[in-house]
Amino acid sequence: MASAPGPLLQAEHVVKYFPIKRGILIQREVAQVHAVDDVSLEVQRGETLGLVGESGCGKSTLGRSFVRLFPLTDGRIVFDGQDITRLSRRGMRPLRRELQIIFQDPYASLNPRKRVGQIVGAPLAIHGIGDRRERKRQVQELLEKVGLSPEHYNRFPHEFSGGQRQRIGVARALALRPKLVIADEPVSALDVSIQAQVINLLADLQEDFELTYVFIAHGPGSASSSRATSPRRSTRLPAAVSTHAAATRPRCARSSSRRSWTTGTGTWRPVTTL
Ligand SMILES: Nc1ncnc2c1ncn2[C@@H]1O[C@H](COP(=O)(O)OP(=O)(O)OP(=O)(O)O)[C@@H](O)[C@H]1O
Ligand SMILES: [Mg+2]
Repeated sequence: MASAPGPLLQAEHVVKYFPIKRGILIQREVAQVHAVDDVSLEVQRGETLGLVGESGCGKSTLGRSFVRLFPLTDGRIVFDGQDITRLSRRGMRPLRRELQIIFQDPYASLNPRKRVGQIVGAPLAIHGIGDRRERKRQVQELLEKVGLSPEHYNRFPHEFSGGQRQRIGVARALALRPKLVIADEPVSALDVSIQAQVINLLADLQEDFELTYVFIAHGPGSASSSRATSPRRSTRLPAAVSTHAAATRPRCARSSSRRSWTTGTGTWRPVTTL
């Protein structure tokens, strides 16, 4: 599909409230969780936008709303020049190839009963790409790209370490050659010693696959979310920051100013402070 000019992704005044229901036979809505409240941002092609904030402030919900995993309460999402806010499941189908997500937890996001070949090849099969042999070839090539071996094709997820599992998740996300990848804390469940490997892998793949990333990370001093089930006042993400990832790695440390973030090799430019 030809690319439209302008940003790859625009979120305008995105609002997502989750209902809290009570009742056994008849469920009544008793309150709402204000997960995302009026967030606007743009993601330019080829860049990495970092979404940083405390636990429970709505980062995953916002990331999931970009790939339309649920309907929005209000606001608009424009992907590649097309308003996808109210597209039907069928209308979203061709776009599913271009919008992918890497989940926070590599242990929970892979089906333990499926072999790696099936997991990584599923998006290809669903979209009817190639025959069995061709899909196997593509999956083995992807496994190599993410630093695994083609021989891993027939193994089950439990036979891999956390870092290797996340590589499987990355291979699955890249199978359809997406334009935008939402990486939702892709290394937070991993051992510190392998976090850098996965981050570096994502940065290298960005060039190879011409990817645009929304990279979700915890802000420094993040607290655990104990208010997750109670309705709250509107929450806002404290900062959204953006960088050209070719020049930097999506790793951040807080600088003296609340609004500027630094990486090892450059400064993350805040595109919007929410
Ligand atoms: N499906 C859901 N139903 C009800 N409430 C939800 C749902 N998903 C998220 N929430 C609530 O929305 C708020 C934001 O959750 P979200 O998972 O987006 O936070 P987060 O910033 O990603 O946190 P973390 O850094 O811990 O991953 C939380 O209060 C959470 O309990
Ligand atoms: Mg989250």
